[in-house]
Amino acid sequence: MNFTTSDKISVQKIEKSRINEVDFDNLTFGKDFSDHMFECDYINGEWVHPTIRPYGPLTISPAAKVFHYGQAVFEGMKAYKDANGKVFLFRPDQNHARINKSAKRMAIPEFPKDIFFEALHKLIDLDRDWVKPGNGNSLYIRPFVMATQEGVSASPSDQYKFMILLSPVNAYYTGDVKVVVAEEYSRSANGGVGAAKAAGNYGAQFYPTNLAREKGFQQVIWTDANEHKYLEEAGTMNVFFRINDTLYTAPTSDRILDGITRKSVIALAKKDNIPVEERPILVSEIVEASKNGTLKEIFGAGTAAVISPVSTFNYKDVTYELPPTAGGYSTKFKKELTDIQYNISEDPFGWRYEV
Ligand code: COI
Repeated sequence: MNFTTSDKISVQKIEKSRINEVDFDNLTFGKDFSDHMFECDYINGEWVHPTIRPYGPLTISPAAKVFHYGQAVFEGMKAYKDANGKVFLFRPDQNHARINKSAKRMAIPEFPKDIFFEALHKLIDLDRDWVKPGNGNSLYIRPFVMATQEGVSASPSDQYKFMILLSPVNAYYTGDVKVVVAEEYSRSANGGVGAAKAAGNYGAQFYPTNLAREKGFQQVIWTDANEHKYLEEAGTMNVFFRINDTLYTAPTSDRILDGITRKSVIALAKKDNIPVEERPILVSEIVEASKNGTLKEIFGAGTAAVISPVSTFNYKDVTYELPPTAGGYSTKFKKELTDIQYNISEDPFGWRYEV
């Protein structure tokens, strides 16, 4: 993959790195940030002053529209280091396209591709030491845009700030995930913002997810808002179901995020002639398949979650156990995906992008 970058970004470097203050063996996902960050403002109809500067606080008006109307979207990407110290991104063009798709839905102006790529190159280059080698280690990249115009009138902002932060991470979920199928709350509805990585989509899940956590589940698998009959996504990841040897996942729509890991898993499955069906999946089908022993696996797929096997799912207060995942599709796809990401295997789809 190759993209043109601009040469527009000014850089203010840190005086002293904070890298020695970070315990890379005991990271909490998204808690530590690297030395530098990128920011660019949208003023008078143009993106201006693209700058990389030391990571640190911002000065923003308390009346900025982001605080009142949640006009904000984000992305999740990762940088991976191979055994020779080369650093790669995974399908970054997809993240750029998706942040602009999310932005459009939230009435936010699109961000130029050349500045996006130049920012990634320069930022990662400066903070290259923050990308640790070894499978599982990565530098999580958080591009986001927020509405910065001062004023509480309920209308789109005319000023925005686009930023990129870098956070060293290990696994998002340690071990298998226990999920509960949503019966009361919903993540998204037809015509809503479910397909956008809008900040509020995630905030809205915290309360029902807390209720699920109190009962011992890490995640909720959301169902359609109309009838709670169809399985959709898990909020931090898309979800795959394996019945016999066929892989099923909900089709993308205006309710479901068009996950980059999701589409990569589908491509990997198709390459190996594994049957994949993207179609609405009834909760009752999965319950029935679990009862008759044909449900072999459930796993989540996402940038942060990578491939996360589900060990049990709960529906209407009944817990269904999944068979052990060893040797299953989730193990296979996780290996194939991470081998591409860490430059261990060939890259037949051209997904790797060196920075
Ligand atoms: C990602 O996988 O990048 C996500 O968006 C999940 C995030 C909310 C932690």
